[in-house]
Amino acid sequence: MTETPPTTGVQIDVDDHPGSLYRVLSSVVVPRPIAWVSTRDPDGVDNLAPYSFFTVASVDPPIVLFAPVDGPDGLKDTPRNVRETGEFVVNLVTDDLVEQMNETSATLPAGESEFDHAGIERADSAVVEPPRVAGADVALECTRHDLVDVGGSTLVLGEVRYVHLTEDVTTDGNVDVSKVDAVGRLAGSQYARTRDRFSIDRPR
Ligand SMILES: Cc1cc2nc3c(=O)[nH]c(=O)nc-3n(C[C@H](O)[C@H](O)[C@H](O)COP(=O)(O)O)c2cc1C
Repeated sequence: MTETPPTTGVQIDVDDHPGSLYRVLSSVVVPRPIAWVSTRDPDGVDNLAPYSFFTVASVDPPIVLFAPVDGPDGLKDTPRNVRETGEFVVNLVTDDLVEQMNETSATLPAGESEFDHAGIERADSAVVEPPRVAGADVALECTRHDLVDVGGSTLVLGEVRYVHLTEDVTTDGNVDVSKVDAVGRLAGSQYARTRDRFSIDRPR
């Protein structure tokens, strides 16, 4: 016997849903950490943009992924640069960087760097060409592992080749999560801080 579907709240049968599920998905998969991704195009212009569809894909090998959704003109600059050059850096967005990060989400004409537009200082990377954000406490230098088309998105998978951690986020030489002031994106222009922490023991 099939169960009667619930009639309270809001029910969304996706097959009958006329619009995009963007608002639902981006409001319920929260909070999302923000990868502030730097790339360099083949002409040497440095690009910088935030991507909150971002997570760890694999630990061994160490792979992170972010998911650019196609814009009105198709592929965004960041995935295009990764496709063409094979390199990128994930700079982690922390509380002190939010305003600058937001500036870099503006759509700029091709050839104009968000680093310069938003007055963001570059730092040389160790093993890839794209620069890091000098003020970022955490930077992951990555080389392309794969690009995977999923509908109107392109999953960008990158192998982490080099990790930068400032002393502000380490204790005795190890990364210390209690010091990483990561910001989470909620929906639209809403964000969360990660300072409200608690611990809970896992069951054996
Ligand atoms: C906090 C934040 C998170 C974002 N996350 C994403 C994302 O996960 N996927 C996406 O396609 N666009 C995302 N955007 C929008 C892009 O940053 C924006 O389209 C940007 O102009 C892309 O730049 P690019 O063409 O230089 O790569 C986000 C914007 C903000 C402010």
